[in-house]
Amino acid sequence: MDKVLVAREVFGDIVDRLRLHFEVEDNPRDEVWTRPQLIERLQGKAGAFTTGSERIDAEVLAACPALKAVCNMAVGYNNIDVAACTARGIVVTNTPDVLTETTADFGFALMMAAARRIGESERYLRRGEWTKWHYDQFMSPDVHGATLGILGMGRIGQAIARRGALGFGMQVIYHNRSRLPHEAEAAVRARYVDKANLLRDSDHLVLVVPYSPASHHAIGAPELALMKPTATLTNIARGGVVDDAALAQALREGRIAAAGLDVFEGEPRLNPTLLDVPNVVLTPHIASSSVTTRRAMASLAVDNLIAALGCGPRAGRPPTPVNPEVLTMT
Ligand code: 8YV
Repeated sequence: MDKVLVAREVFGDIVDRLRLHFEVEDNPRDEVWTRPQLIERLQGKAGAFTTGSERIDAEVLAACPALKAVCNMAVGYNNIDVAACTARGIVVTNTPDVLTETTADFGFALMMAAARRIGESERYLRRGEWTKWHYDQFMSPDVHGATLGILGMGRIGQAIARRGALGFGMQVIYHNRSRLPHEAEAAVRARYVDKANLLRDSDHLVLVVPYSPASHHAIGAPELALMKPTATLTNIARGGVVDDAALAQALREGRIAAAGLDVFEGEPRLNPTLLDVPNVVLTPHIASSSVTTRRAMASLAVDNLIAALGCGPRAGRPPTPVNPEVLTMT
């Protein structure tokens, strides 16, 4: 029986499905292991169930020669060195699709909260400062009918575009590495623009681009300088896509109106200057966290692990591989 490691605590009934096929070491106390602890626990393990918090790089792989499959409970996989896994014949899987609509809901909610100043006004009320109604209290830009900008037009970007165009009558513009086919653009009523125009024309800019060296600080001081002073910025992509220090300064100086952030550079720590800025809504990386979706993500990661290690009805054919070329290697 192969051995597998479940690196973080997840739904017990879903982890139990792994026990039908493998000897499972899990992490029921949800300890956050150091790198040496992770390497130690991966010894002799053929498979790993990981989350975005575990970094699986070339050094880890070299130290864990038994590893054959790394199954991430996340659609993003920037925590895994996929090229190094492929070079070693290790299958990597992620959890696309099952989180698309839930994550888009949250991205839209965070954008609306930032735009309509919900965090700021709620804190004001809780501080007991609300003594009377006033005509310009927490006035804000509108969301409906405004221009929604999307950077990164994958599945989640398209789901956000649909919400904006069809639900809120927004004009949707987007920028992506590659332009969508005409029918896909028409389905979500989005217009392709270059990055500078996206920054200049968006009233509400939402980031959904995967993290890579190419997208590191895709939004920094020069990009923020192009945005409208009335614009909002929402990041549900990854910490590191935004230069958080530059954003905090732009918010403080009123160079953009507001921001909504679910992901941060160096999370779960975050740039402390953000905490002192009133016009930002901060959430702890929860965009995919609905009951149904988090269960579906865990379940898909388990299905992937079972199949990647040659067990179950899909033996050898994990549902959502990131490097499918490994599966055809002889
Ligand atoms: C996860 C995410 O909650 O899927 C992703 O890429 O960012 C989130 O849905 C997180 O990565 C935990 O694995």
